[in-house]
Amino acid sequence: MNDSTVHIVATGSYVPENILKNDDLKKYIDTNDEWIYTRTGIRERRIANKDEAASDLAYETSKKILKRAEINSEDIELIVMATITPDTCCPSGANWLEGKLDAVNAVSFDVTAACSGYLFALSVAMQYLKNGVYKNALVVASEVMSRVVNWYDRETCILWGDGAGGCFLSAEEKYKNFPVLKNVYIHSDGKNGNNLLMPGGGSKTTPISHESVDAKLHYLKMIGASDSMRVAVKRFSESCNEVLNNFDLKPEDISLVVPHQANYRILKNVAKKINIPLEKFYLTIEKYGNSSSSSMAIALDEAVSEGKIKRGDNVILTAFGGGLTWGSALIKW
Ligand code: UT7
Repeated sequence: MNDSTVHIVATGSYVPENILKNDDLKKYIDTNDEWIYTRTGIRERRIANKDEAASDLAYETSKKILKRAEINSEDIELIVMATITPDTCCPSGANWLEGKLDAVNAVSFDVTAACSGYLFALSVAMQYLKNGVYKNALVVASEVMSRVVNWYDRETCILWGDGAGGCFLSAEEKYKNFPVLKNVYIHSDGKNGNNLLMPGGGSKTTPISHESVDAKLHYLKMIGASDSMRVAVKRFSESCNEVLNNFDLKPEDISLVVPHQANYRILKNVAKKINIPLEKFYLTIEKYGNSSSSSMAIALDEAVSEGKIKRGDNVILTAFGGGLTWGSALIKW
């Protein structure tokens, strides 16, 4: 079996133009900008147009990635899309994206791991490239969370936003000087997934009924949000330490942490626990909120575009989300 090195050839991201500010939420719920900002670090989030689905945001992202990577869509071998808000359950979001890209030689499928989805998708794609089944992969995380948010639930609607981000991975020799995805560590706990839950729309509630809609089962629910924050800090920190330990790195060896943008307070506590200053965390939460699987992908692309990452830098990606799912990755830039 081969054990090829997997390179990041290009990144990209796309956020919808519509901005929803904290104070705009006052028309649905009893809240205010100060409460939301203090408790979450969020000031505003992006909302997709009515006619934009997850594959549309992914398509805009992919066009940027392919242009930067100088790749034609017919040369893509594998498309992995992370999403919990696919256009349809069948076909998958990735299938729709493949069609839009006219990626006639690619095989495509979705990966579902909530806010950790981008890490899980990177991990899946990495295995195919490492063992030589495919030479390249387009990995995109795309979410239209605004479609599954109950705008009258003040514990959840303040958090979420829409957007997409991703990268082009290759194991080809010609990219040997490009950043290396060193490894991705993923974890799950299926026994404690009930506190971040989308109860409706699956085989439990299909066909969707008046009763299930009246009970708002098609919306995302958070049970015990504060408990979830504690678990998030623990899992984020554990998995960052897993990267440090496995690569024999010290906190000071890390140039940048690109986290899933869950909540500013969570990330502040993670920074303290892993002894990496918060200034080294790349944060987009203030302007985009939590866009689930895509938040880390968008943040990585923006960090690259802003020149925050230099050659040779050690970069940690880290996420925690529904499932429960969590993990971290190391990139040697
Ligand atoms: O990405 C997946 C991973 N992310 C997570 O697991 C994190 C999810 N959880 C969170 O981000 C936070 O728990 C929230 C931001 C949702 C809530 O923050 P909190 O510090 O846990 O607040 P709380 O739920 O304990 O609420 C504190 C108070 C309550 O009032 P009382 O009972 O103290 O009088 C709430 O009713 O704040 C009230 N409250 C609000 N006030 C204004 C709750 N939501 C709001 C609101 N605006 N939107």
